[in-house]
Amino acid sequence: MQSTIKTLSLGLVAAGSLFTGVALAEDMKAGDFASFEKYVTDNKIMPPCTTCHAVDMKKIGPSYNAVALHYKGNADAAAALEKKVIEGGKGVWGAVPMAPNAAAKEGHAKKMVEWILALNPEGDAKTKAEAEIAKMPKAEEKK
Ligand code: HEC
Repeated sequence: MQSTIKTLSLGLVAAGSLFTGVALAEDMKAGDFASFEKYVTDNKIMPPCTTCHAVDMKKIGPSYNAVALHYKGNADAAAALEKKVIEGGKGVWGAVPMAPNAAAKEGHAKKMVEWILALNPEGDAKTKAEAEIAKMPKAEEKK
């Protein structure tokens, strides 16, 4: 009996700390890149997405505005991009590959991709994203 209570309370302590861990890593706010950067840091996503991606300009990888605009209205995009973030890949935006990101597993990739796809560039930001999309390699150049 004594040991059962001990096991039970230990279990509760473990569950409690688990919940604290989840609560500490805050979710991102739509359109707020600072909250995206914080999410990357809090969840120790390495290499950090922000090394290669910005919202409104191409870095090593495409800008997130261009990604959002390119996949707008594409219902299959979220699942495919989630997989790509975890496994890495190349050829869609250019010859430079995105490395696999194991740290983005366990729902992180899904949340980050949702945040990216929810971006809705307008005005100058949209023009810039369109220019980036226009430079994407055509299907026959991809392989
Ligand atoms: C080392 C640099 C690097 C890092 C780190 C990186 N990316 Fe990328 N990312 C790229 C490159 C390069 C591409 C373009 C790949 C291509 O052309 O197919 C890309 C493409 C993408 C795309 C579009 C994929 C497509 O097929 O259209 C998304 C979405 C994306 N990255 C999200 C992320 C997220 C989220 C993270 C962090 C978990 C991340 N990236 C980390 C370099 C990086």
